[in-house]
Amino acid sequence: MAAAPLTDDPLLLNDWHVVARASELAPGAVRSARLLGVDLVVWRGEDGIQVWDDLCIHRGAKLSGGKVKEGCLMCPYHGWTYDADGACVGIPAHPSQKPPPRARTRVHPARVLYDMVWTSVGEPSGEPPPFPEFSDPAYRSIPSGPYAFNALGPRVIENFLDVGHFPFVHAGYLGDPGHPEIEDYEAEITASGVIARDIPIWQPDPDGTGRAARVLYTYEAIRPLTARFTKAQGEQRFTMIDIVTPVDAGHSVAWAIMAMNYAFDVPEEKIRVFQDEVTAQDLPIVESQRPEMLPLDLQAELHLRSDRTAIAYRKWLRQLGLRYGTS
Ligand code: FES
Ligand SMILES: [Fe+2]
Repeated sequence: MAAAPLTDDPLLLNDWHVVARASELAPGAVRSARLLGVDLVVWRGEDGIQVWDDLCIHRGAKLSGGKVKEGCLMCPYHGWTYDADGACVGIPAHPSQKPPPRARTRVHPARVLYDMVWTSVGEPSGEPPPFPEFSDPAYRSIPSGPYAFNALGPRVIENFLDVGHFPFVHAGYLGDPGHPEIEDYEAEITASGVIARDIPIWQPDPDGTGRAARVLYTYEAIRPLTARFTKAQGEQRFTMIDIVTPVDAGHSVAWAIMAMNYAFDVPEEKIRVFQDEVTAQDLPIVESQRPEMLPLDLQAELHLRSDRTAIAYRKWLRQLGLRYGTS
C-alpha cells in the first residue's frame, strides 16, 4: 500500500522539492528521505538517480536498507529486486517464477539541478526554482546544509526573509547591536512572488575583510518554501538561495547554496562553517516560535514597518492559498 502524503495541499504536492545532493550519491548509493510524510528511497543506478516510495510490496520493508545489484535495487528482507522502472524483476525464493505485474514500487519524478535531486510526490507541471548564479562563471557556488528544523517551512522561510533579527540573533556575525534600526523599504508582491529591494543594513564584517559597512539586501520569495537574497556592496554580490523541504507535520530541512562574485581565495569550508554557525543561531529561535503554523491573518501577530517583507510573504501565501504550515 503506497503511503499517502500528509497534505493534499496542491501547491506543495505538485511542486518540486529537494531530497538529496546529487554529488553525495556515488554509483550504488542508497539513501532514505522523507517528503510530505512520504518515506522515499533515493538511489543511483546505471540509469541515473531514482526516487521511489521506500516500500517493498512483498512485506513492506524499507528498500533504503537494501543495495544496488546489477542496476537493480534489492530489498534487504527477501531479496526481491526492482529494476530502474520500479518493477520487480526477480524473486530469489522462486527463481523461475515471473514476478506478478503488481509487484512494483511507486516511482517519482527525479531531476538533478544545482547539484540537488528534485522530486515530487504529486504531479509537477513547472520547473524547480531558478538560481542563475549557479551556472554564471562570474560566481563561485558553495553548498551548505541540509539544516534540519523542528519547525514548519513557512516559519523557516520567514526567518530567512527577516532583517530585524540580525543585531540580536547574529550579533557580531550579520548585525551590530549598536545599529538595530531598520531604514524604511518597500516590499511588493509580483507575478513570481515577493520582492523587497535594497534594504540598508549595517554589518560588522559584510565581506570578510573585517571592515564594518552598510550593505543593501534584496530579498525574494520565489516559491512558497523557497527564498533568496542578494547582498550588494559596491560591485560585490553575495547571494543565497534557501530551499525548504517539507518533511512532515513537524519537520523541515533547509538546503542552501551561496554564490559570490568575489573572495575566490577564501576556502569554501570557511564560508560554509560561517553559514553553519549562523543557522545554528537561528535554529532555537525558529523552533521556539508558537504557533508553529504561520498565521496568515495579519491581525494575529504584530507587524512593524521593518516587517514589510514578512507581511508581503504572508499576504502572498494567502493569495496562493497555501495550507501546509499556515493557519
Ligand atoms: S519485504 Fe522486500 S523482499 Fe520481502
Ligand atoms: Fe537569521
